[in-house]
Amino acid sequence: MNDYKYEDYKAILEEHLTDFLPDIDHKSITLFEAMKYSIEAGGKRIRPVLLLAACDFCGGRIEEALPYACAIEYIHTYTLIHDDLPCMDDDDLRRGIPTNHKVFGEAVATLAGDGLQSAAFEVMNQDMLLYFDEPEALKKRIRAVYEISKGSGCRGVVAGQIADMEAENRNCSMEMLDFIHLNKTAALIVASIRAGASLGEPTDEMMEKLTVYGENLGLAFQIADDILDVVGEEEEMGKKTGMDDANNKATYPSIYGLENSRRKLEELTDNAVEALAVYYDNAELFTTLARDLAQRGK
Ligand code: IPE
Ligand code: IPE
Ligand code: MG
Ligand code: MG
Ligand code: MG
Repeated sequence: MNDYKYEDYKAILEEHLTDFLPDIDHKSITLFEAMKYSIEAGGKRIRPVLLLAACDFCGGRIEEALPYACAIEYIHTYTLIHDDLPCMDDDDLRRGIPTNHKVFGEAVATLAGDGLQSAAFEVMNQDMLLYFDEPEALKKRIRAVYEISKGSGCRGVVAGQIADMEAENRNCSMEMLDFIHLNKTAALIVASIRAGASLGEPTDEMMEKLTVYGENLGLAFQIADDILDVVGEEEEMGKKTGMDDANNKATYPSIYGLENSRRKLEELTDNAVEALAVYYDNAELFTTLARDLAQRGK
């Protein structure tokens, strides 16, 4: 059972989000400003909320999960800064304001992304050092960092991003499209959930069910994003729409069409909800989140 609602976890996260940014030397103030610019621009904060909620659901203490929740948002924000660069998706608008490179230039934006990624691992390692003499507590933290490293790296987001780039202007198989979506997006969502659960006391069954939920939610999340790129409003999304078509991206709507994409979104949402059915109302936060997401993509 979760003690809080989505908005409560989000508020707790946002209250502490910049606390864990490293104390950067004044001589590199531009770097710090560029990192803060994108972190403070807002966003749905889905990944850290899932991390906190999974920790809570598995009986952990959310105060102890905060460094990891902040870390996952630093990593996600770095992926957005790099994703928007001219050498990648070349986007001008993100989270309702100009993209990082539009304000700070490409070199600084690249470095701000690098800085956020390493800050994430610094904050998690700093926390682990506090538990050096408590093997059980330390093990949980090592497991969480392992999930986050794996999901964000070359077997996760980075693998998905390169496949996404290489699929531009080419025929892309359905299998390849799933590889792209599962890696560039679902991997970090699954990592958030598994890392959060690891910080609690999950049974094997809980870990397994939450993972199935996360995989389905993660794929649904990117399909909804693809659909909204076609039918959504720039104002509401805080980013330009129609960019996938302009960049000739391999997306669900471009390969399956809009109606089939919506059907797939529904199916994945049902799978996500079904995975947690054994927990009845106790998993309400997760199931409501999945349903709300599907609603957005309608
Ligand atoms: C955008 O992620 C990138 C995708 C994986 C589609 P979000 O939609 O979570 O972006 P923010 O964090 O709310 O800005
Ligand atoms: C982004 O996918 C996935 C990331 C790893 C950032 P998109 O390129 O579709 O995300 P948006 O639409 O720019 O937010
Ligand atoms: Mg992209
Ligand atoms: Mg993009
Ligand atoms: Mg998109």
